[in-house]
Amino acid sequence: MNASVIVTAGHVDHGKSTVIGRFLYDAGLLPKGKIEAVKATCEKNARPFEYAFLLDALKTEQAQGITLDVARNFFEYKNKRYEVLDAPGHLELLKNMITGASRADGALMVIDVSRGIEANTKQHFYFLKTLEIKQIYVAVNKMDLIGFDEKVYKSTVAKTEDFLREIDLKVNGFIPVSGVLGDNVVNRSERMPWYDGPTIGEAFASYAETPSLQGAPLRLPVQDVYKFTENGDSRRIVAGELVSGTIAVGEEIAFLPSGKKTIVKSIENSANSRLTTLTAGYPAGITLADEIIVKRGEIIVNLSEPQPSICMRFSAKIFWLGKNPLIEGKEYILKICTRRVSARVEKIEKIVSAVTLEEKDGDKVNKNEIAEAIISVDKPVVFDVKESIPDTSRFVIVDDYEISGGGIIKSPLRDESYDGRNLRVNVLRDAAKEKAAFLGSGAVFWLTGLSGSGKSTIAAEAESMLTKNGIRSFVLDGDELRRTVCKDLGFSSEDRRKNVIRVAEIAKLFKDSCCVTLVTLISPSRDSRAKAKEIIGENFYEIFVSASLRTCKNRDPKGFYKKADNNEIREFTGVSSPYEEPLNPDLIIDTETLGETEAAQFLYEFIVKKLANN
Ligand code: GTP
Ligand code: MG
Repeated sequence: MNASVIVTAGHVDHGKSTVIGRFLYDAGLLPKGKIEAVKATCEKNARPFEYAFLLDALKTEQAQGITLDVARNFFEYKNKRYEVLDAPGHLELLKNMITGASRADGALMVIDVSRGIEANTKQHFYFLKTLEIKQIYVAVNKMDLIGFDEKVYKSTVAKTEDFLREIDLKVNGFIPVSGVLGDNVVNRSERMPWYDGPTIGEAFASYAETPSLQGAPLRLPVQDVYKFTENGDSRRIVAGELVSGTIAVGEEIAFLPSGKKTIVKSIENSANSRLTTLTAGYPAGITLADEIIVKRGEIIVNLSEPQPSICMRFSAKIFWLGKNPLIEGKEYILKICTRRVSARVEKIEKIVSAVTLEEKDGDKVNKNEIAEAIISVDKPVVFDVKESIPDTSRFVIVDDYEISGGGIIKSPLRDESYDGRNLRVNVLRDAAKEKAAFLGSGAVFWLTGLSGSGKSTIAAEAESMLTKNGIRSFVLDGDELRRTVCKDLGFSSEDRRKNVIRVAEIAKLFKDSCCVTLVTLISPSRDSRAKAKEIIGENFYEIFVSASLRTCKNRDPKGFYKKADNNEIREFTGVSSPYEEPLNPDLIIDTETLGETEAAQFLYEFIVKKLANN
């Protein structure tokens, strides 16, 4: 989906919209009946027809759902796609360019030849320079007002060139035009035979297209992770917009800044067709080969490609539009792609007024000022420098819930406490953080079931899987507790109830200390399990480890069933004491059909899912 994005610039009323409107008309790009409709409206309102109105008419149609005060015109001309952005005021232009709502590959500066360079003309040239827009044509407009005089044209060009030298900006060329009459817009002017350069249409065609980001390194900012639970569907789809590069099934990818690696299992963009690759410019929904926890704000990359920078300090160019000034030291929210972090302006190095272009020093940036500053953030940010990939090099700053400014990251800076180039530090830090996140939400997984149903075996195996994956967990085993803290208790229903309550209280302490706690306790009575649930509170999950009495008796790992049958043990659950199956457990693990490892894996997956949801 390559296209040239061109933005118009120029002083108020110098004819930006007229030139574009006339271009669309002459190039035959207007929808059928459009010009007649606009003319009829003008007649009805007793207003003279203006080509500029063609854009306004298009604007309402095309900008639906986009809150931009910019008319965006999409069209195809001579086998190339274009998006021409026509911004009314200069601050509007600036705002849209910097907040990333639009990015331009080229600009068309319009100067009214009868008025010459005016204040906004200078500012706009300055913005184009600041925004590093390299392809610029200057339309010297309203040539009809000066009788298509070459001398006046040349003098305007010369004055403009003087100014451009002053600010050290190069342009591709100048074009004498009449937007109203259509001279040198699409059709070559017969009234200016002295000019043999390109028309506006030819200039557009000469703008290089946005370099395709398809061949650029993979950048897929994670917007969301969707979990599916219905009808046995257990997919977790990582979704976001693929802003650069390509992604393929089977590709090894990494999430930054966490550094977690995995493989793309599937691309789930459409339910019907199985895609194996996706390219830049499309939304992407992928599933992963490993069950890793990823969150909004991370960026998916391919580590064998050029990597983005990761750091907690950087220098940036900031454009400030907020009603309150941007001040050194204050906390702001910085958003880059889908990542939100707290940010602080460490130092404002230079301030330029976007209105007067005056430079000054200071520790606050007022509305409509541009600043160079050093910013530090509280969590690592991932970005590309110098707009090689525009989406990952621009940010916006939120102050008081409003987007108040935006900027471009110029270069990463070293931070004593964090070496962004060293991914390992980063990975460790994030692993620790993630652990902390788990620690912040302890949970109790209460395994109930007959003696010999497999509770302890499964729990021990799941615990070891959790530990391997960096999740602090512990098994509170009923048999073990009976030998220690519950030594004084027997097996009467009253004592059994006390036993459950004690274990529940201990499990709660474990949970409160942020441990993932697995309880393995026969806990035969529904009532006492309900009591346990009440004691433990949130993040309690009842898991029924199910096996028939016959199976348990056959297994009889400790010989208890045999003894119970022989009356050597009294009040034995299932034999001489009842077991009340859970009516509505959070999970049933059927150990008749699942092997030990499978059952443990099943439990482990359940736990991880629950933890991720906490
Ligand atoms: P803003 O969007 O308000 O910044 O203005 P603009 O630069 O888009 O100017 P616009 O196209 O609205 O034109 C302003 C006025 O100049 C209109 O009345 C146009 O008819 C007139 N105009 C534009 N181009 C020409 C031209 O080539 N010749 C003459 N005579 N008038 C022109
Ligand atoms: Mg306009």
